[in-house]
Amino acid sequence: MRPIRKAVFPVAGLGTRFLPATKAMPKEMLPVVDRPLIQHVVDEAREAGIEHFIFVTGRNKAVIEDHFDRQFELEHTLTERQRRDELELLARDVPAPGTASFTRQQVPLGLGHAVWCARELVGQEPFALLLPDVLVQHNRGCLAQMIDAAGDLPDSANIIAVEKMPAERLHMYGVVGIGTRKGGLFSVTQMVEKPAREKAPSDLIITGRYILQPEIFGVLAAERRGAGDEIQLTDAMIELARTQPFYGLEFEGRAFDCGSKVGFLAANIAYALERDDIAPAMRAELKRLLGDG
Ligand code: G1P
Repeated sequence: MRPIRKAVFPVAGLGTRFLPATKAMPKEMLPVVDRPLIQHVVDEAREAGIEHFIFVTGRNKAVIEDHFDRQFELEHTLTERQRRDELELLARDVPAPGTASFTRQQVPLGLGHAVWCARELVGQEPFALLLPDVLVQHNRGCLAQMIDAAGDLPDSANIIAVEKMPAERLHMYGVVGIGTRKGGLFSVTQMVEKPAREKAPSDLIITGRYILQPEIFGVLAAERRGAGDEIQLTDAMIELARTQPFYGLEFEGRAFDCGSKVGFLAANIAYALERDDIAPAMRAELKRLLGDG
């Protein structure tokens, strides 16, 4: 497969499930420990070798753009106070000049439409798509695992990350059908968005990490409405699968659906527990809260 240099982050969602926290602040800026959700996802892309970060934003999302810029007043104050550690921490997260682009989804017409809004910035090359609602915790990031797996696949391949989900939750996600398998990688025979329980082709859901060919934009341009009267990415992938191969990768690691309150809180605890500086105190607090400490 051709190298994957660009990643798209759809960050235009309204975040209604987290109101009132998201009334004036984008949900992508909610912290998981001390880094915004979107920063964790950008870290994953960067670790996978992504060079250009494309954000599809919306109104009230300007602070995301500010987050990925320098903050001179803050830097000045920290310099005066000789807070070198904090200065280094801030510098690490700022993308190199010219490597972050922002475009707006003007009307919330669904995930497929948000992805289509990135077409001019992506151009004619395969790209990664990372949904910032999903965090995957593992020492090798999910996208890096996908790019590793892509090595031997044909140039026209598309790859989606998948994970097992209990039957009673399948209807909340895209679900794939499983074809020929080699290790964690398999050919996808079908995709169904938010299937009724008896219609789910397997127990593997689409996790929110994709490597897609640029031909997806041509399909999305037709603006066909699907579930929820939205332009669904899954519908466009089904269409593209008629002419290009799709593969599923059962990645290693634990995924947190940070679009749900419990998933978000669990991610905070899990990420805190892997941090040397706070894990011991966190563990003690959890013990106390659960009543056996
Ligand atoms: C989207 C996709 C779905 C996928 C999910 C992962 O759904 O349409 O296929 O399983 O993300 O989080 P949404 O969460 O936007 O409803």
